[in-house]
Amino acid sequence: EKGGYEHFMLKEIFEQPRSILDSMRGRLELVAGHLNMGGIRAYERKFMNADRIIIVACGTSWHAGLVAEYLLEDLARIPVEVEYASEFRYRNPVITERDIVIAISQSGETADTLAAIELAKSKGATIFGICNVVGSSIARATDAGAYTHAGPEIGVASTKAFTAQVTVLTILAMIVGHKRGTLSDTRLQELMVELGSIPAKVEKALLLNDEIELIAETFKDVPNFLYLGRGYNFPVALEGALKLKEISYIHAEGYPAAEMKHGPIALIDENMPVVVIATKDSSYEKVVSNIQEVKARKGRIIAVVTEGDTVIPPMAEFVIEVPATSEVLVPLVSVVPLQLLSYHIAVLRGCNVDQPRNLAKSVTVE
Ligand code: F6R
Repeated sequence: EKGGYEHFMLKEIFEQPRSILDSMRGRLELVAGHLNMGGIRAYERKFMNADRIIIVACGTSWHAGLVAEYLLEDLARIPVEVEYASEFRYRNPVITERDIVIAISQSGETADTLAAIELAKSKGATIFGICNVVGSSIARATDAGAYTHAGPEIGVASTKAFTAQVTVLTILAMIVGHKRGTLSDTRLQELMVELGSIPAKVEKALLLNDEIELIAETFKDVPNFLYLGRGYNFPVALEGALKLKEISYIHAEGYPAAEMKHGPIALIDENMPVVVIATKDSSYEKVVSNIQEVKARKGRIIAVVTEGDTVIPPMAEFVIEVPATSEVLVPLVSVVPLQLLSYHIAVLRGCNVDQPRNLAKSVTVE
């Protein structure tokens, strides 16, 4: 049932070229040149006229929500707020009938997310769900939605569900952006082609597995890790850190790279591994400066870069090269090496990767 892999988590990481494709199936119509998402058809007008979108989720799904904030603001020009479901539900939030709430959940059973939905519903908001488990409580509680179709995720640490969520949210942002006129026909077509090439790029990123295992060997006994990223790679930094702490029990923090100088930089010395996600995008030059700041304090840099980068490698102790893609799609590729890094570190530390201590696959209590 693990298909020859040692753990479900590894199997699920390696399934991503396929699961991402499944999450696009029937939605990305490259030949016809258009996008479909059954779930939003009846709510198109709502999305067209939305004053804002509120995204509620927990954990990794919340990170997918953060990526969606960048996507929806970039492509559809709708203001987005991303909320931890547990905070949102208890703080008397301002919600109106004009709001669209997007709830994201792999299991569809997360108690806090479900309660946030009920609250938003009681205020008249339209609720759109993005779930992996078909027929789950959250899927049933929403007005409309889209399934991620990633297939069953058994490993407690979420991997393929995350990339499927981001894929669905990307398609949603593209459809809404195009309808609202903020995403031109040409740009839409370009992005569609690029999205279609993502499974192959993820496949290529998976070839880094052996290389990443060696990096894991070097760092398996460290007590701390820092993950830095900017823009679309900021949520990826958070996700990389979460993956590491949940399965390896190493303390890890994800930070927006520029925020480092407001505190975390004090942690950096010759013992601190710093994973910097530094792909070629609009914040690239800024991230290069952030790497220099880390280096000046002797931090040990593990850089995730775009293939062919010649500027960063001389500054880093380890370099992980991922295929180039459009900036808005980069999380789908850049998260993959981070999943593998946390996996190998946890295995080398003898941890129970598929069932880490204190964690459950679906959190049905608040
Ligand atoms: C992380 C992880 C958790 C879940 C969170 C939300 O690897 O598994 O952080 O992402 O409990 O779960 P769902 O998406 O089922 O609502």
